Amino acid sequence: MTHPTTNSAPEKITTMTNEPNNKLSNALWRIYQRPERPVAWTQGGNLPWNDPDFSERMLREHLDQAHGAASRVEQERLLQIDWLWAKLDLQPGMHICDLTCGPGLYAVELARRGCIITGIDFAPAAITYARALAEQEGVADRCTFIEQDIRTVHLPAHEFDAVLLLYGQLAIFPKAEAEQLLAKSVELLKPGGAFAIELLNQNRVDKTDSRWWFTDHTGLWGDTPFLHLGERFWDDDAALSTERFYIIHLETNQMTEIHLCDQTYAISTMSNMMQQAGFATADAYPRWDGVPLYDADEWVVYVAQTGRG
Ligand SMILES: C[S@@+](CC[C@H](N)C(=O)[O-])C[C@H]1O[C@@H](n2cnc3c(N)ncnc32)[C@H](O)[C@@H]1O
Repeated sequence: MTHPTTNSAPEKITTMTNEPNNKLSNALWRIYQRPERPVAWTQGGNLPWNDPDFSERMLREHLDQAHGAASRVEQERLLQIDWLWAKLDLQPGMHICDLTCGPGLYAVELARRGCIITGIDFAPAAITYARALAEQEGVADRCTFIEQDIRTVHLPAHEFDAVLLLYGQLAIFPKAEAEQLLAKSVELLKPGGAFAIELLNQNRVDKTDSRWWFTDHTGLWGDTPFLHLGERFWDDDAALSTERFYIIHLETNQMTEIHLCDQTYAISTMSNMMQQAGFATADAYPRWDGVPLYDADEWVVYVAQTGRG
């Protein structure tokens, strides 16, 4: 028996319905009809950190000491904090703003060392945890945690001795927003204040396209059986990767689509951007300046300073 073959895929879904039995079919059609390459930042560009359920699941990853994917494990974190303490010349009593503070693991340690902390993050479970951790460590009076988007949060100008933006989050914003965040950091700092930011090393980033899939019943993407389908696209001209995830929840046939963008920067580009934003100096430290982190090779830490006025 021969099977008729065709090279032309149907262009349109003829019947799309919300009936539960058709949800899976609709989801599969959506995948089938996806644009070949997603256009960066047209459908979000960040993980849904601020979704309450996702944020609860992500918190487990932050605290998991078996890996450092969401927050680095404690031993490495303390080495980083020692390095930042020396390099930024931090002192007890200084005011520090931790942008994208997550569950406050850096912030609370800095408060334990005597600093006065303002931590900003828009993940609800992370902020709840950070507040509880500060209480537990007896430093709640030195910590303020604010659940807000770092792009829109309003903070007093020239209040901080240091601003931190750790673990790569600047990269998930389009360049214009990244520039605004750098300028905002300048504005937050006192004259002579220090800024530390950590970004992926552009030379080390995977510059290939790839696809993958897996199934699970627990983890970041859900706590009931799901199928995760992922694709990664590297745009060489823009030096940016866009990942597109489809997660099909098998018990409900609901599908979630997430796009995650990661803008990479050459060291010279980022140093220029920091000077354009108003920093007087900007130094780059590839490989975390030798701090022994398991993935240190992948990162560059920049330390910048505002002028003394
Ligand atoms: C990889 S985690 C790092 C957290 C923390 N810096 C650490 O290393 O433990 C990134 C954090 O950035 C936060 N985040 C991402 N985009 C944000 C935004 N626009 N406003 C506030 N927080 C954001 C997420 O909620 C998450 O807690």
